[in-house]
Amino acid sequence: MYANSKIPESAQQGVHEALEERVRKHLAADFRKPCLDYNRAAFEASLAGWDGQAPLILDAGCGVGHSTIALARAHPDHWVIGVDQSEERLTRRKPYPEALLPKNMVLIRADLVDYWRLCAEAGIKLARHYILYPNPWPKIGHLTRRWHAHPVFPYVPRLGGRLECRSNWNIYVEEFSTALGLMLGRTVAWESFEAPVPLTPFERKYRDSGQTLYRCVVDLDHLEDIPS
Ligand SMILES: C[S@@+](CC[C@H](N)C(=O)[O-])C[C@H]1O[C@@H](n2cnc3c(N)ncnc32)[C@H](O)[C@@H]1O
Repeated sequence: MYANSKIPESAQQGVHEALEERVRKHLAADFRKPCLDYNRAAFEASLAGWDGQAPLILDAGCGVGHSTIALARAHPDHWVIGVDQSEERLTRRKPYPEALLPKNMVLIRADLVDYWRLCAEAGIKLARHYILYPNPWPKIGHLTRRWHAHPVFPYVPRLGGRLECRSNWNIYVEEFSTALGLMLGRTVAWESFEAPVPLTPFERKYRDSGQTLYRCVVDLDHLEDIPS
């Protein structure tokens, strides 16, 4: 049945007690896992249509790509890259025929663990960066599967721009803000928000289930956080 989605259930009632130690450990050590060739090829492919000038938007974990399409329509002068590891989601039928899809976007299959590092190594700077409804991994023992506690996370703020993470689990967003704050050396705000026009299928499902949505928005190129 549609619109009966559940808020993640967790024994965890606040920011994980091991989060700070994890983040500091990842900040202090290089992440040495080699990037796979298929992710290198995907990285190159994601920039093949870019003119090298247009501001870049990354929709990280774009799922079926509806948000990538919406972002490309809203920012026609940007090059918009939707990355997801699931070929099945990326190739699922789109709300428009192929011919009507914006020309300033690309959907690419890649593992973000490599893709983010390849962007950072190439000196890529983003204008906007979205991490929309990442898998919450709500079990206490799954902390390091959450993006902000993963060894790749220090590469995310290096890409700059306006970074936004959204979730229906308040603890995920609070942890995301806490981890970012530890990396940036300042407080990073988070908030609940309304989504009258949902950007992604997960956002639509959670909204239609009457859930509160949470987000963290931070301007990595300037000191102030952006409220909207
Ligand atoms: C809960 S879904 C959200 C999808 C979409 N953003 C939305 O809101 O509808 C999380 C997405 O992250 C993708 N994902 C998870 N881990 C990933 C990774 N390491 N690299 C690329 N995509 C990943 C999954 O395939 C999935 O499509």
